[in-house]
Amino acid sequence: MNGAIIGGTGFYDAGDLLRTESVETPFGTVDVEIIRHGDSELGFLNRHGKGHSVPPHKVNYKANLKALEMLGIRHVLAGTAVGSCNPDFQNGDLILLTDLIDNTRGRSLTYFDGGESGVKHFDMSDPYCRNLRKRMSETAKDQPPGFKGEGVYCCSEGPRFETAAEVRMIRQWGGDVVGMTNVPEAQLAKELGLCYAAVSVVVNMATGMEQGAVDLEYGDGLIKASMQRLRKLLKDSLMAPLDQDHCGCSNALIPL
Ligand code: HPA
Repeated sequence: MNGAIIGGTGFYDAGDLLRTESVETPFGTVDVEIIRHGDSELGFLNRHGKGHSVPPHKVNYKANLKALEMLGIRHVLAGTAVGSCNPDFQNGDLILLTDLIDNTRGRSLTYFDGGESGVKHFDMSDPYCRNLRKRMSETAKDQPPGFKGEGVYCCSEGPRFETAAEVRMIRQWGGDVVGMTNVPEAQLAKELGLCYAAVSVVVNMATGMEQGAVDLEYGDGLIKASMQRLRKLLKDSLMAPLDQDHCGCSNALIPL
């Protein structure tokens, strides 16, 4: 398998289903769909589960990532629906994530909680794999309008949206988009030595930002079209196999 895709809000299937693998991890059982794309097979799961039944702060991030690793997958691309804190990024835009800010509270953030699992620290200078970002940038060139830009993701605890004052703070921190799921997903991938990268789809302007005059329907219109663009972009980016030779993802452990 060349890799796997994790879908978020508005991205519930990846098409061409071959079979479903039920993977029993130490953190729970995860159903991973195996899909065909060209000559390759890819894994797919939606982090919120069937029918969007799991809220962001309760997603079983550890089981999801572990299940992909147990299937032998080394490359993971994720989609996230976000609010925009950057006036240049408007509804429907696809944003390639380059860095992240953790503004969550009380989530279980690591596989290494002391005791039997030990204490480990991981390098996060490149939270989103540089190889995968390069691959997606190249793929997007043939799929206009491609990415609107690159951006920094700020993860809120949710499930409520931010206040206007919080959005002003996130902007001062350097955040471009705000969502509720990329922490701990991105860092758990790093702990497992997986290459991970993510693309955000702007589905609303964040609280207090001027709203663009576009529809907010997931089921129809602009957002649906953007989700379809995202789906094609992620699948096509995993069409050809990738190695782990030109990034630090499989070697991010910081020696103590
Ligand atoms: N804030 C946090 N998460 C989100 C938003 C938002 O404005 N839009 C979609 N997910």
